[in-house]
This record gives sequence, structure tokens and C-alpha cells, in this order.
Amino acid sequence: MTVLSSRPDLWTLDPDVLHLNHGSYGAVPRRTQEVMAGLRAEMDANPMVWFRTVADRLTTSRLELAAYLETDPAGFALVPNASAGVTVALATLPIPAGSRIVLTDHTYGAVRYAAERFAKANQAEVVIVGIPLEADDETVVSLIAERLDGASVLIVDQITSGTAKVLPIDGLVKAAHERGVPIVVDGAHAPALIDAPAAAGADFWTGNFHKWPAAPRATAGLVVAEQWRSATMPLIVSWSEYEERMPERFDMQGTYDYIPWIAAPESLRVLAALDWPTRRPQLTALVEEGARILAKSLGTGVAEVVHPPATMRLVELPSSVDLSGGDALKMRISRELKAEITFTGFEERKFIRLSAHAYNSPADYQKLSEGLPKLLA
Ligand SMILES: Cc1ncc(COP(=O)(O)O)c(C=O)c1O
Repeated sequence: MTVLSSRPDLWTLDPDVLHLNHGSYGAVPRRTQEVMAGLRAEMDANPMVWFRTVADRLTTSRLELAAYLETDPAGFALVPNASAGVTVALATLPIPAGSRIVLTDHTYGAVRYAAERFAKANQAEVVIVGIPLEADDETVVSLIAERLDGASVLIVDQITSGTAKVLPIDGLVKAAHERGVPIVVDGAHAPALIDAPAAAGADFWTGNFHKWPAAPRATAGLVVAEQWRSATMPLIVSWSEYEERMPERFDMQGTYDYIPWIAAPESLRVLAALDWPTRRPQLTALVEEGARILAKSLGTGVAEVVHPPATMRLVELPSSVDLSGGDALKMRISRELKAEITFTGFEERKFIRLSAHAYNSPADYQKLSEGLPKLLA
């Protein structure tokens, strides 16, 4: 097997910093930044010409992004982020008074807020299903399925954020549809980590290109099942209000910065040039070994998550670590250790959610393991 080398040279990340949290805001490769800079120069040289050409450029980009997801382009729209994708889904689906919006205790906080807003507006109720970290696929499906009575919507993560767990979307789509419940899949972390992530036939699927595919920020996709397409409207009312085709309805959102959407396919080409299908399992090995070394240095363990995603692992924090100061500890680590990491939690447990991307190498995890225990002591 060819061992692919780490490629920090393809990014512009500060080499003095350990970048070990790709999962939050991604990182844009140099080549995509250059494409964006070229587009920005074009836009600012003649804004009138630029905005006359935006629609065609968006069509080209949208078709490329839909092909990458292996999804029907007629049901694929561009949205700024997964939060927007979930909000559009909740604004489209009927939520009768007295019905339930079903989530899990792994649901991303902002998505739970969206569910709460729509529940309140419709006199519905939010129901949160508890899923143990150690639950296998069958258990996940049955725990959720048994709470679907009276549900108007089920929202599930494809890869959970705080707990880095892959949920069994095929089984959940089946369980929801057998009970006549529409399902919204929050695939914020799925593109580039799961192949054809929208293939299971959810009513709505949304996912970020600005995380693992390293696209410019504010680039996400929304995949809508055929029966909902005519009713699905963008959050901003603009000139495409009466456009018949759903994808085009989402393209023009008033005067807006369309450059990230237009440049996003360049990041897919960077990933292809990095031989992503071969590299991804190597990143899995890298993050697993990195998590093992870090856990050893902290005297803890790597959380035993059933179905962890390809490039993220949870390292248990010692129970003595106090995270009550919000970002204070992360800022101290950033300042004193020059390391960017993130903390998450579940029930009473606290974790470092460690990641690996093509710019990481074993030395990154080694350096973190050497410095972090002293700082947490
Ligand atoms: C599961 C999940 N859903 C939604 C989001 C929100 O993504 P965005 O900030 O791009 O809207 C995230 C972000 O990390 C996430 O992990």
C-alpha cells in the first residue's frame, strides 16, 4: 500500500500552530483561495458584468457539487450552511399542532434551537430520544423508532457533532417512512467522510462542503425528495420566488457573495488530487494512533464509540478538568501551546474531539501529547 505523505504545503495554515480541529470550520486549500481571489478581482473590476454572469457560474458549480454527492441535480440546492438546510426543511414540512418533532440527545445545539422555534410556532412539542454512545445500529434504530408515535418530523445527525458517531441513516429512513414520518438528515459532517451521503432517500438531507471537503465557508447543499421540491423555498425572498425549478430558486439570493459557491468545486479537485479514497483510511489510522497517544499522556482512554467517523475520535478528559469557563481553556491552549483543539461533552463525560486531515502528520499529535498534560494539571 502506498503511504501518502502529509500535505500542509497545499494549505496556508500557520505552520507554528497545531491544527487538530478541522471539524468545526474546515480549512481552505491554497488553490481554492487563489481561485476565489481571481473571482473577487473579476467581480470588483466590473460588478455589473459579474452579476450578469453569476447565474450561469452557479449552475456549473451546483451540477458539479450534486455529482460529487451522487445525487439528482433536480433535487439539489445550494444553501450557506447546514443550519440553513435544516431550517428550510422545518419551514417546509407540515408540523400540525400537538405533533412531535423528534430529535436525539446528540443533535447539534443550533438544530435543537431550530426545532424548538418551529415547535413553538406550531404548538408542537420537541421530543429528545436518548442514545447511548455505545449503542449499535440496531439499538439506535429501535430506540428512535419506538418514539415516533405522533411525530411530524424526525431529525437525525448522519455524523453527530459532539460525540463523533455515525448514525444508521438507511435504517432510520426506513423506520421513519414505515411509520409515515418525514425524516430530515443533518449531514453537516458527512460530505467527504461518507460516500454518496444523501443516498438513503431522506425527505431532506443537508451537508456542509466547508467542513471535510475543505470548500470555502458558507457552502452547503440541500437534497430534497421529489414530493417536497415544489414546496421548498429559500429563507430569503428574492427574484427567484416564482422560479419553478427548486435548485434555481435557491441560486439567486439578492446581492450576496456567491464566490464561495462558485469556487467550491476547486476544493473537490484538490481532494481528488490528494487521492482522497486512498488517503481517508490512512487519516483514520492517523487519528486513531494520535488519539491513543494523547489519551495515554492524559492517563485516560479513547471513547468507545460504535461507528466513529473516518477522521474524528473522542479522547476522554480527566474528570478534574474544568470546562465551565466557556472558551477560556481553549484560548489558553491556543496561546500557550499553539494548539487548536475542541472540547465536547456527553452526559457527564468530557472529551477532546481530535481530527485528522491531509495537512496533519503524526508529529502534531505527539507535540500535543507532550504539552497538554502539563497545561491541564
Ligand atoms: C451535526 C451538525 N449539524 C449542524 C452543524 C452546523 O453547521 P453550520 O455551522 O455550517 O450551519 C454542525 C456544525 O458543526 C454540526 O456538526
